Amino acid sequence: MAKIDPQKLPKHIAIIMDGNGRWAKSRSLSRIKGHEEGARSVRDIVRASREIGVQWLTLYAFSEENWRRPKYEIQALWRLLKRFLQSELEEMLQNGIRFHVIGRIYKLPKDVQKSIKETIEKTSANKDMTLTLALSYGARQEIVDTVEKIATQIETGNIGSGDVTEALVAENLYTANMPDPDLLIRTSGEFRISNFLLWQIAYAEIYVTPTHWPDFRRDEYFMALEEYQRRERRFGATGDQVARKRK
Ligand code: IPE
Ligand code: IPE
Ligand code: MG
Repeated sequence: MAKIDPQKLPKHIAIIMDGNGRWAKSRSLSRIKGHEEGARSVRDIVRASREIGVQWLTLYAFSEENWRRPKYEIQALWRLLKRFLQSELEEMLQNGIRFHVIGRIYKLPKDVQKSIKETIEKTSANKDMTLTLALSYGARQEIVDTVEKIATQIETGNIGSGDVTEALVAENLYTANMPDPDLLIRTSGEFRISNFLLWQIAYAEIYVTPTHWPDFRRDEYFMALEEYQRRERRFGATGDQVARKRK
């Protein structure tokens, strides 16, 4: 941990938590066991993030496309989520963690929605870190919902079509009021985005590791942060310009 510069910490880290199934398969366990172990990684990474002072942590837990999975696996995931929210509430309250969700939450089972709502309410005054779970989340669906919202504002005459700016789009995404991720981590080796935060990751640094999510714990997380801090973020400018600005 010593090598992490607190001045250069990513403000927002987003993680595609992949590989629970493969982790389980390699141990001849059921996929559900993989998700259970994955929940332990979630706890570890949330704690580690809070300890080093990350302000925004967003975890991709269930995609819109994941509804295609077998029903028993989906049910097990919701059961696990409920259990997680119950077991972590106390720690979230003690550590100043605000809980938040993005996605088409209305598609989740009612009892899970209730649990989410309660956790959001109970942690709403916390200010040190926002933990966002992406649930029934798809970036294309988010963009569709955003376009619809903006179209309605134009239709009702609140704004004109000339008022559509990057800022207006950003304000109407599910992630309104959240900064864009600086660092995007994907575990389990796949070099793809799988419909996660397409708009928001325009300039995120990407870190892909072959480690399956249940094995991704704080040591490797800190390694990812060290690697992030070695990168030069240019945002379209030249390396010389960036160096001059740093001085
Ligand atoms: C990630 O692990 C968890 C979810 C998508 C819910 P996977 O379940 O996708 O694991 P693999 O990719 O099959 O190994
Ligand atoms: C991405 O993982 C979604 C989550 C981590 C929740 P998937 O396992 O669903 O992604 P693909 O299908 O391999 O692209
Ligand atoms: Mg997967």
